[in-house]
Amino acid sequence: MCGIVGYIGERKAVPILINGLLSLEYRGYDSAGIAVLNNNSSNENNYQLEIVKDKGRVNNLKNNDKIKDLIGNVGIAHTRWATHGIPSKENSHPHIDNTGKFAVVHNGIIENYTSLRRKLINNGYKLYSETDTEVIPNLINMYYSGDILKAVSDTMKELKGSYAIEVISEFCPDKIIIAKKDSPLVIGTSEKGNYIASDIPAILTYTNKFYFLDDEEISVVQKDSVEFYDINLSQIHKSIKTIELDSQSSEKNGYEDFMLKEIYEQPNAVRETIGSRLSLSEKTNLNIDYIDFKKFNRIFIVACGTAMHAGMAAKPIFEKFCKIPTEVDVASEFRYRNPLIDEHTFCIFISQSGETADTIAAVKLAKSFSATTLSIVNVIGSSITRFSDYTIYTHAGPEIAVASTKAYTCQVTLLGILAIYMAEFLGYDDKNLQSFKLALLKLPDKLKEVLDTSKTLKKYAKKIFNQHDLYFIGRGSDYAVCMEGSLKLKEISYIHSEAYASGELKHGPIALIEKDTTIIGVITDSLTSKKTISNLEEAISRGAKVLLITNQNIDNDKIDFTVSIPPIHTLLSPIISIVPLQFFAYYIAKFKNLDVDKPRNLAKSVTVE
Ligand code: M6R
Repeated sequence: MCGIVGYIGERKAVPILINGLLSLEYRGYDSAGIAVLNNNSSNENNYQLEIVKDKGRVNNLKNNDKIKDLIGNVGIAHTRWATHGIPSKENSHPHIDNTGKFAVVHNGIIENYTSLRRKLINNGYKLYSETDTEVIPNLINMYYSGDILKAVSDTMKELKGSYAIEVISEFCPDKIIIAKKDSPLVIGTSEKGNYIASDIPAILTYTNKFYFLDDEEISVVQKDSVEFYDINLSQIHKSIKTIELDSQSSEKNGYEDFMLKEIYEQPNAVRETIGSRLSLSEKTNLNIDYIDFKKFNRIFIVACGTAMHAGMAAKPIFEKFCKIPTEVDVASEFRYRNPLIDEHTFCIFISQSGETADTIAAVKLAKSFSATTLSIVNVIGSSITRFSDYTIYTHAGPEIAVASTKAYTCQVTLLGILAIYMAEFLGYDDKNLQSFKLALLKLPDKLKEVLDTSKTLKKYAKKIFNQHDLYFIGRGSDYAVCMEGSLKLKEISYIHSEAYASGELKHGPIALIEKDTTIIGVITDSLTSKKTISNLEEAISRGAKVLLITNQNIDNDKIDFTVSIPPIHTLLSPIISIVPLQFFAYYIAKFKNLDVDKPRNLAKSVTVE
């Protein structure tokens, strides 16, 4: 995880670095720091490396008095999500070597740092932090004999694991050296200088022209040039890509929190995701015409967290309309369990950020077994898109809050469109598919309706926000929604919660039910609604209080509170029924006075395994 930014040019570096870090805080916010090459003397070649860093968020760093002394035009910066070592000033980046001449910021994990530490100590170096990163500036120092590029490439050859690094040094004050492997890094270029960041939005205010660094590549960034090398220092050529994104859409626009704004953006985000891909009169258009879907006998949907829940919600759609057995797997399991895949397997990967380490590894594994890989991603140009055979984008817009909301609804929507596309290709274009298509086109309006009805939950959230344990139950697609609702609640309200398939309750978990335990039931399928009602009654008989989210006509006076949501095709209900659960988690976190957008211990992009 962690976010890194860099700048070299004619402007002062610090404001650019701080702005970039603020936008990258979704990648971690345990500590933040900046290193700048300052020139305070009349001798224009006399540069000094100055560092300000501290525990806490970027605003803490911004308000640090020492920041105003950093006046240089060359700098690197970091916002940390702690992996090795507690969040503390000592463990904050930038890290320096023993001579204080090289400063490094790093995103990723150096897996062999213990042996590298030993090697450095045997060579007389001292290490002061608990981090894996501190070995990097010291290795650069050890290999430096006048050529920084060579010292960085020699260091890279020693590193195992993942890294995106930026290096500055008093020895070469006109350069930032950057390198990467399995962690993202982009370079934005403009007439006023060159910018480096972990993602595009962090520097989109300054330029829309970007270079993308690939794995095991190094770049020498100067104020008016950018050069690229492979790890053996052979020069390579890269072309600039122009990115059309709106930097304004990353603002809160009057909402109290990004999460609330993103919940409200769902009707529009889903409308954008449908775009011109789907219409009643024409074949679905996804620009993936080269895939021969007839050759697949199995589908795998692989992802992490909320994206995996989107896969769970979509599995029955693929099985019903494409008639291909579909398995959903957690990327961190898939990558290590030798899944049975070959050239007849279609692997779909889902990721909002496109940078999740386990999902990237899962894509690489699937490709190595000759499976066809397609990724559903929100962030344009992100790493997963570069590893997959095919990518289709959700058009959710930037999702800033750590808790994913609009990315999820857009992912399930796009998976639905993909299933329709495949069913049409396979010749299963019947009236059931047509009515599913029609329902999908109505989603933006249904989402608008559910935004209104969900607000009623505030009262209920106020009543129960002090509880310690909550349970969610549902069947089929409703169970997938329960998993996601429970994750939302855990991550932003810190309340323990679990989701069960309704029928499982009596096989163990019912032992946990006591007087006033809250159970949230989700019921959107008329075929199984009576069954789940019975399961809720079983819990009520043991003292539980029930909150029900439903689009069915359920007349039961034992239910404590009901949120009625608009009816929709059962297979699309996860896109609608999740909305009240998003609000529920949000209101509870607000009543508990918690930071909704940046919950403790989490980061938006999980770029380590
Ligand atoms: O960027 P990705 O979609 O690959 O991220 C996957 C998960 O880390 C993410 O969905 C996480 O579970 C969210 N914080 C949940 O709200």
